[in-house]
Amino acid sequence: MSSTQSKRAHSEEEEPKEAGERVLDQTLRPEAWEEYVGQENVKENLRVLIAAARERNHAPEHTLLYGPPGLGKTTLAHLVAKELGANMRATAGPVIERVGDLAAILTNLEPGDVLFIDEIHRLNKTIEEVLYPAMEAGKLDIIIGKGPSARTIELALPSFTLVGATTRIGLISAPLRSRFSGGVFQLDFYSEKEIERILARSAKILGIEADADALQEIAKRSRKTPRTANYLLKRSRDVAQLDRTGLSKVAAEKALAMIGIDTAGLTPSDRRILEALITKFAGGPVGVKTLAAAAAEDEQTIEDVYEPYLMQEGFLERTPRGRIVTLRAREHLGKRGVQKKLI
Ligand SMILES: Nc1ncnc2c1ncn2[C@@H]1O[C@H](COP(=O)(O)OP(=O)(O)O)[C@@H](O)[C@H]1O
Ligand SMILES: [Mg+2]
Repeated sequence: MSSTQSKRAHSEEEEPKEAGERVLDQTLRPEAWEEYVGQENVKENLRVLIAAARERNHAPEHTLLYGPPGLGKTTLAHLVAKELGANMRATAGPVIERVGDLAAILTNLEPGDVLFIDEIHRLNKTIEEVLYPAMEAGKLDIIIGKGPSARTIELALPSFTLVGATTRIGLISAPLRSRFSGGVFQLDFYSEKEIERILARSAKILGIEADADALQEIAKRSRKTPRTANYLLKRSRDVAQLDRTGLSKVAAEKALAMIGIDTAGLTPSDRRILEALITKFAGGPVGVKTLAAAAAEDEQTIEDVYEPYLMQEGFLERTPRGRIVTLRAREHLGKRGVQKKLI
């Protein structure tokens, strides 16, 4: 096995994230189901899966979690491992470059481990195919040698539960998807009330004394996403601290304006995308590639990060012929696509 130089992934997240954000994620990551707000349906399904598996004295079946970044996929994987009293081994699609990398990870698992593969849509085809028998039958087929003398050896793997996470369910191949026999679960955007609860908990952990209406304002503008909410809370605290005030609504508004988050929670990038659609393509329809170039944004980031929220909030629609802007977006930005005021 020449390609077994193991490159064990220790990084949990592959998406480019600032170090500060990663630390914040870890500090504020819920440690118990009770602290994990919302996503009731997914939580319930996972708990049934775990309880039933436990009764059968078996590792729970493999599950796939999908949804935009920051909604709590990694956190859920941690909670599953914790509930099982198992170790969580974390890696990510782009990190597993060779079959040997995956083989090393799989053969190093302890019985009952949870293997978390983030961004699982980015596994390449050859590696995916090695994963199939591992998921289905707990075996690893390795080909040794080349040509006529090549032979396959089969290794039995310890029982494990794969938890996959992806922001792009559309890129998961049908064969891979079908092997998540424990279920494929979509994480939804949170309600403002849920985000407020998350913020209240975060404020407590970070020792921030915040007014209720400040948290409400941050929740309203947090893209219904816990990670964003926590980040905005921290930025608001910084502003309040330097102004020698408490975290009031005014302080939060000032902080949000400084980062360019408007009243609908849209970022400068969101607005650039909508403005490009309105001013350069007469509102669409336009393909995402063309739109990305016009808005000077990365195509994949548009699809992973910006678009899901813009669609959820009714600023953008996806049609077979491309993206189109909605009336709500036009009204929000002003008729000519130029934003009138930030706050
Ligand atoms: N349901 C939740 N309840 C409370 N906090 C949450 C929840 N989901 C996510 N968070 C917070 O948001 C951060 C990002 O979540 P994470 O699981 O890393 O998202 P994803 O893996 O989907 O990108 C976590 O560290 C946690 O602080
Ligand atoms: Mg994650």
